[in-house]
Amino acid sequence: MRAQAIATEISEDDYLREVRHQHFWKTLEHFVRKASFSFPRNRQCLILDVACGDAEEAVVLNCFFGSGIYCIPTLEAKVYGVEQSEKKVRMARANLDRYCPASFAAPFNLVSNCELVQGDARELSQMGSLPEKVDFILVRHPHIREDRDKRDTNWQRIFSECLQKLDPNGLFMITSFIEMENELILSTLSGLPARVLINELNPHAIPLIHNDPIAGDKWVTLVKRIQR
Ligand SMILES: C[S@@+](CC[C@H](N)C(=O)[O-])C[C@H]1O[C@@H](n2cnc3c(N)ncnc32)[C@H](O)[C@@H]1O
Repeated sequence: MRAQAIATEISEDDYLREVRHQHFWKTLEHFVRKASFSFPRNRQCLILDVACGDAEEAVVLNCFFGSGIYCIPTLEAKVYGVEQSEKKVRMARANLDRYCPASFAAPFNLVSNCELVQGDARELSQMGSLPEKVDFILVRHPHIREDRDKRDTNWQRIFSECLQKLDPNGLFMITSFIEMENELILSTLSGLPARVLINELNPHAIPLIHNDPIAGDKWVTLVKRIQR
């Protein structure tokens, strides 16, 4: 009886979003721990979700870096989503509100814990609403493409800005759908003050279609900033 009730209460979209959230949570658990990320003590953990699209993962980031309790939004972490497309920012707002409706989010002050900034991530350092340094930066599925000089200059500039925003103890994570994109990410990082700690296939990747070589968060790259 209960299973039937649940089936009627949750739409297919919400169910699939929940599955994707769980995959992403497991991805964070696996890689953030493996990279020995040191969670800040006695202050809020600051996270930047760069080129966040519809920011589906923002709530997961907030829970993981705050309470460490799945699906419990927390004041202990704050997520800033940066996205250039106005349409995507609108979708992100709707997503946050849909996944964490105001009635649920209000007691946790969630609105101010996931803040969206519309703008060009090549200019992160000029965005006054962002903190000076952050503890964790995510670039998820950048859709990086090779350009004429073998590097995607949009993403090279974005990665460079991300490294400048990163606290010296912070961690920068980039994920990609396919191996070729992962290779382009590595070549784009070369020449920047970045040390690749981990570059691996993700055991918790989200299969898009059964046996498809493309999967969400298939490759995960974790980077530290080199002090110069
Ligand atoms: C493939 S989507 C990934 C979205 C999201 N991270 C995800 O995994 O679903 C790539 C996003 O990067 C954004 N983007 C590309 N260049 C950007 C820039 N210079 N500044 C801000 N956002 C940018 C695009 O608008 C798009 O939403």
